[in-house]
Amino acid sequence: MRCIVTGAAGFIGSHLCERLLADGHAVTGIDCFTDYYPRPIKERNLANLGGHPQFQFSELDLSQGVPAEVASGVEWVFHLAAMAGLTRSWLDFDTYNRHNLTATHRLLEALKGSPTLKRVIYASTSSVYGKYASGDETLPTKPSSPYGITKLAAEQLCRVYCDEWNVPAVVLRYFSVYGPRQRPEMGYHLFINAILQGKPIKLTGDGLQVRGNTYIADCVEATIRATQAMPGEVFNLGGGELVTVLEVFKKLERIIGKPAIIEKNPPRLGDQLATGADVTKLFRHLGWKPTTSLDDGLAKQVEWQKTLI
Ligand SMILES: NC(=O)c1ccc[n+]([C@@H]2O[C@H](COP(=O)([O-])OP(=O)(O)OC[C@H]3O[C@@H](n4cnc5c(N)ncnc54)[C@H](O)[C@@H]3O)[C@@H](O)[C@H]2O)c1
Repeated sequence: MRCIVTGAAGFIGSHLCERLLADGHAVTGIDCFTDYYPRPIKERNLANLGGHPQFQFSELDLSQGVPAEVASGVEWVFHLAAMAGLTRSWLDFDTYNRHNLTATHRLLEALKGSPTLKRVIYASTSSVYGKYASGDETLPTKPSSPYGITKLAAEQLCRVYCDEWNVPAVVLRYFSVYGPRQRPEMGYHLFINAILQGKPIKLTGDGLQVRGNTYIADCVEATIRATQAMPGEVFNLGGGELVTVLEVFKKLERIIGKPAIIEKNPPRLGDQLATGADVTKLFRHLGWKPTTSLDDGLAKQVEWQKTLI
């Protein structure tokens, strides 16, 4: 297949590109290197892709429009480009609106009417559900941050372009993804670095927030399987195992062999109190189940982070 991966220099996008190439597909990666985290980290994410004969990279800001030649002949589009993260979205709404909503609009406009297009997979988030994101896809969508609102609005754009223009879009709602290359501001990344370096972990809230996280390889597998889903479908994509943040600290202490020094801080504005994906639908439609246990996935992320220190 001829594929486009937007957000290719990001955490999940770079893994997805590698897997698609390994499966024999041709991939055009698109990314504009937003300043959400430093460009050298994103260039390192791309390091395994450079030079692959089936990989092309286009440094392009989707919100500025998508040239017709970029979309020409494409069969699968994986739209992962976005400004992630809840906290900054309170401070910088216009940037979130541009990268999450306008960019999605420009991409869908470029894909509308394509004779070759088979699927567009949109990477959405559990944040569309808001503070309590535990359950299946029938949970009410009540985002508790501007980030969640822009991601939900982009889902709705996908639905409208699917209904009115036959753009064959499928929505996946990712529940916190972790593993090697996890974004540097994400919880597990920060916790692991702090324990490895004997520094305090800034815990926001009481640590009893429940999380159902997804290992990167499981996320990539489900994302590729979603190309076989019916257009218009929406799926939760999560790891299955539920733990509190305090339980994660215990696991990391055991894996790393050092104590976690915990520094308590007030909860983040709009933080999710519980996330746990019911992924029955993804299994029923596409036969997907997570295969990596949290202990194994965390151990892999720890090994990767040791190489960065
Ligand atoms: N990582 C998670 O746990 C998680 C959870 C839920 C949803 N998601 C979603 O998954 C997707 C990927 O997340 P990630 O963790 O890999 O984030 P990431 O920040 O590592 O990757 C996103 C990439 O998109 C690029 N980008 C942003 N706006 C762009 C634009 N206008 N044009 C071109 N490129 C642009 C950024 O430069 C970045 O490299 C995002 O859509 C995010 O909302 C991620």
